[in-house]
Amino acid sequence: MDKHISVKACVFDAYGTLFNVHSAVAENQEAVGESADRVSAMWRRKQLEYTWLRSLMGRYVDFEQVTADALNYALETFNKNDSMLHSKLMGAYRSLSCYSEVPGVLKKLGEAGLQRAILSNGSPEMLTAAVNSSGLGDSFESVISVDELKIYKPTPIVYQRCCDQLDVSPGEVLFHSSNAWDAVGAKSFGFNVAWINRFGQPREKLGHQADYEFSDLIQALNVVV
Ligand code: LAC
Repeated sequence: MDKHISVKACVFDAYGTLFNVHSAVAENQEAVGESADRVSAMWRRKQLEYTWLRSLMGRYVDFEQVTADALNYALETFNKNDSMLHSKLMGAYRSLSCYSEVPGVLKKLGEAGLQRAILSNGSPEMLTAAVNSSGLGDSFESVISVDELKIYKPTPIVYQRCCDQLDVSPGEVLFHSSNAWDAVGAKSFGFNVAWINRFGQPREKLGHQADYEFSDLIQALNVVV
C-alpha cells in the first residue's frame, strides 16, 4: 500500500500522460507507411529536444511551431516529405485520444474535492482543442500553459507558476507525468510526484526520483483519495 498524502491539487502533464501522442500517426498509419512507429517516435523525441534547445537558446516559439518543426524533421528523415501528410498529422495532433482511464480518474478526484489542473508545454489553443475533443471540458479547474512564460519544462519557473495560479505550495500538489524527465524536474522543484511509467522505461539518471511509480493514473488515485 502506497503512502496516502493530503494535497489540495492534482496536476497533470498533458502529452503522453493524459493524451496519447502516438495516436496521430496511428490514425494515419497507411499514409505514413511501414516506418510509422519510427516516425512517431522520432517526431516526439525531436519535439521534446526542440523545447529544451529553444529554452537554452532563449528562442521560444510556441509548442504548435515546435511540433510542426519536429514533424518536418521526422518526415524528412524517413523520406516522407509531403505537405499534405504534414497537415493531416498536425490536424490529428489537435485531437489526440486520451488514455482510457483519464475521464474516470478526473471524475473521482473532482468528487473528492481536489483541484484538477493541467500544466503543459502545449500552447493554450492546442490544449483547449485536445481537452475538448476528449470531452474533458468540465474536468479541469485550470489549464496552465508555459506559453505565458515563454520557456519550457523542466525549468522550475514553470512549476512555480502552477503553484502561483492554483494558490498552493509545492507540498500541496501531487504532480502526475508519464515523462520521466518531467517527473524528475517536478520533484527537483519540490512537488510530490507520481511518475506514470506507461512504457516500462528505466529511471532517468538525473539525481532525483519521483515519490511514486505507477503504470497508469488509476493507481495514483490511492495516494490522494
Ligand atoms: C507536456 C509535454 C511535455 O504536455 O508532454 O508538457
